[in-house]
Amino acid sequence: MGCEPLAGGRRELVHVHEVEVSLGGRTVLRDVDFRIAEGEFVGLIGTNGSGKTTLLRVVLGLQATTAGEVLVAGREGRRGGPIGYVPQRVAFDHDVPVRVADFVALGVDGTRLGLARRDRGVHERVEEVLASLELGALAGRRLGALSGGEQQRVLMAHALVSRPRLLLLDEPLANLDLPRVHETIAVLDRICRAEGVAVVLSAHEISPLVPVMDRVVYIAHGRVACGTTDEVVRPEVLSALYGHHVDVLNVHGRVVVVEGEPGDPGTHPEVVVR
Ligand SMILES: Nc1ncnc2c1ncn2[C@@H]1O[C@H](COP(=O)(O)OP(=O)(O)O)[C@@H](O)[C@H]1O
Ligand SMILES: [Mg+2]
Repeated sequence: MGCEPLAGGRRELVHVHEVEVSLGGRTVLRDVDFRIAEGEFVGLIGTNGSGKTTLLRVVLGLQATTAGEVLVAGREGRRGGPIGYVPQRVAFDHDVPVRVADFVALGVDGTRLGLARRDRGVHERVEEVLASLELGALAGRRLGALSGGEQQRVLMAHALVSRPRLLLLDEPLANLDLPRVHETIAVLDRICRAEGVAVVLSAHEISPLVPVMDRVVYIAHGRVACGTTDEVVRPEVLSALYGHHVDVLNVHGRVVVVEGEPGDPGTHPEVVVR
């Protein structure tokens, strides 16, 4: 199932074309085909093991494919320009003796490792990014002394400071309480619009993302369906994707996706969406 670029003249930034990936002799992504336009906010939604991390690594050029191609800004892999990446489950030890602002400044050289230049432009950009992530008050704090959620935001700042055109975030909402989930999404939405950076955020729950997403890439068993929430979160589309019957229920303003067993439309809830 493919996905056309957004209307409104937005230029294509990412094209994942008929990609297949095998890991340990097993095909974990197949016929994956979608596009992402510049500046759009995309949710990559799927349950554990559906292939979200693998797909993000493919877009980054870190994961080899067995078929298909991936173009970022019209070129293959990372050569399409810096991509900001916030991996899943990164935690700094309590005693890591690095200041937040210094760590974020290290992201200035984009994908290259090394000491950031300590000029005024860098300092201003670091302050700007920390403020946009509501981290200004933490600039002088020790990285290791922050909470897990705060550390993750610092990683977002590190990924954004070099002004990437694409920001990939792997399950940044996992392990956050609900108010923090909404706060984080609101912050990322503002950054997406203000900086014109395309944001691709993986999650296993679509519900809190619906108000901000331009489009969804829904992934199940290594295959994707892409479109607006209304286009994709429908029984006929998700049933085709899962390969068996799926219901989509609207309950008190939330959408509940109920996956049936193969050959058995009897239900048990698998994914809750709004
Ligand atoms: N290095 C690996 N070798 C073999 N199988 C892997 C490897 N990494 C991931 N997988 C498998 O690929 C599938 C997709 O994994 P992953 O992309 O991590 O899913 P998600 O991020 O959605 O939880 C899973 O079935 C997982 O077990
Ligand atoms: Mg994952």
